[in-house]
Amino acid sequence: MALSIVRMVRFVLVGLLAFFSIASARPASRFPRAVPNPSSDPFYQPPAGYESKAPGTILAQRSISSAFFGILPNPVEAHQLLYRTTAVNGSAIATVTTVFKPKNAKSDRFISFATAYDSSAVKCNPSYAYQLGTPQDSLIASVELLLIEAYIILGYTVASPDYEGPDAAFGPGRLAGMGVLDGIRAVASFKTLGLSENPMVVGMGYSGGSIATGWAGSLQPKYAPELNIKGWVQGGTPANVTGTFLTADNTAFSGFLPAAVVGLKAPSAYGAQLEPIVSKIFTPEGQKVVNAAATNCAVQDLLNFAEKSLFDTKYQSLGTGLLNEPTIQSVLKQNTMAVNQDETPTAPVFVYHASQDEIIPYANATAMVNSWCNWGADVKFTTYANGGHATTEVIAFPEAVRFVSDAFEGKTASGCSKNTKLDFILNPIALGVELEPILTKLIDGLSHLGQKDANVKNDVSVLSNTL
Ligand SMILES: *[C@@H]1O[C@H](CO)[C@@H](O)[C@H](O)[C@H]1NC(C)=O
Ligand SMILES: *[C@@H]1O[C@H](CO)[C@@H](O)[C@H](O)[C@H]1NC(C)=O
Ligand SMILES: *[C@@H]1O[C@H](CO)[C@@H](O)[C@H](O)[C@H]1NC(C)=O
Repeated sequence: MALSIVRMVRFVLVGLLAFFSIASARPASRFPRAVPNPSSDPFYQPPAGYESKAPGTILAQRSISSAFFGILPNPVEAHQLLYRTTAVNGSAIATVTTVFKPKNAKSDRFISFATAYDSSAVKCNPSYAYQLGTPQDSLIASVELLLIEAYIILGYTVASPDYEGPDAAFGPGRLAGMGVLDGIRAVASFKTLGLSENPMVVGMGYSGGSIATGWAGSLQPKYAPELNIKGWVQGGTPANVTGTFLTADNTAFSGFLPAAVVGLKAPSAYGAQLEPIVSKIFTPEGQKVVNAAATNCAVQDLLNFAEKSLFDTKYQSLGTGLLNEPTIQSVLKQNTMAVNQDETPTAPVFVYHASQDEIIPYANATAMVNSWCNWGADVKFTTYANGGHATTEVIAFPEAVRFVSDAFEGKTASGCSKNTKLDFILNPIALGVELEPILTKLIDGLSHLGQKDANVKNDVSVLSNTL
């Protein structure tokens, strides 16, 4: 579930750090003092009585210095909003979105970008990682900031919500979907941005970010029908959590599983149902693994549990029967996309997936697309035949940018279409000269990932190299 492009992340960040130290030799004293971790930052605490506010209500706001290691052509205006959203059981919770506004921003539209933070600790919140002076524990959020930057250069205001909510619950799609939708409501009503009334919105995300995006699209017709959604872009979608568990287990990516256990059993997710089961069936060794995932971000999670199996009775007493436990099975099913016809997106959707995705099953995404198409959705589905999970987010980027532009113009086709692309490299000027520097960095990242993620799959030891 991840754009865990660990090699690419390292490469891009090292490059950015190098650029930063050369290009902007600012004295260290000019940096603001350390930003507090979300767990001790009062900004994340909602005011008394917030529960009675409507979902999407802004509860607090602040401007931040966003860090892009000095690479932004113009320092981008950035704000954070604490807003009211909804837990799986319907109670009120509050979370934060970060909004980046370019100088030349189009005022009738914005993008909601669900970054793949794929972790279950609040220190991995994108709202924390985006700030100047924070430790880059959440490397995934940092690399996706490069993609966000591309949209900013194109003149879009971009909002990126902490859609996992106040418990940092990785995995429960319904929670994430509501987090995205209420984040959109908050941004749309945030006067400082000068957006027009009921602005147009396109929501997007890859991998863990497409859990949030796929569910936002699914829930929007009923949960937030008033929003002016023009489209959704979801790549590498974990449409079926059960399928993802089975595929990612016992691989370099098994570390996502304990993080998802922590996320699914969070109080704002399915804690009331799952916590008693997890405490009963997880062994002391299994509890240790789960506790570690509750305090670490994605890269460390992957390191801690690489090539291990959550179905091992060393970790939990049900062994391979884990996912058949009735409560667990029911929770996973509730978080499988395209099961209920009345949860079909009504805005056009661009879905893309690597046929050889090594983490998120392609067949599960195809099943989702087929159901949505049978139920009348407008879906453009592109299969990337020469990519792995990590490389495909990069390779498909130009197609995603074009879909976004078409969606805002109302030019996407209706009905369903399927096509296959053989691309495995980017053309640096595919999106015009303005974006050439960013595409060049992405191309460098691709060469480090290896074709079809070859390097990622073959060299898990790279995960242990820190920046
Ligand atoms: C999800 O995947 C599981 C495990 O492979 C499968 O049994 C189930 O039918 C799938 N669910 C849907 C709705 O496709
Ligand atoms: C409902 O969700 C709230 C908010 O996360 C949580 O505090 C509470 O424990 C949940 N209650 C039940 C019964 O699940
Ligand atoms: C989902 O993926 C799992 C794991 O690869 C596979 O066993 C299952 O058949 C898939 N289900 C559907 C409906 O595609």
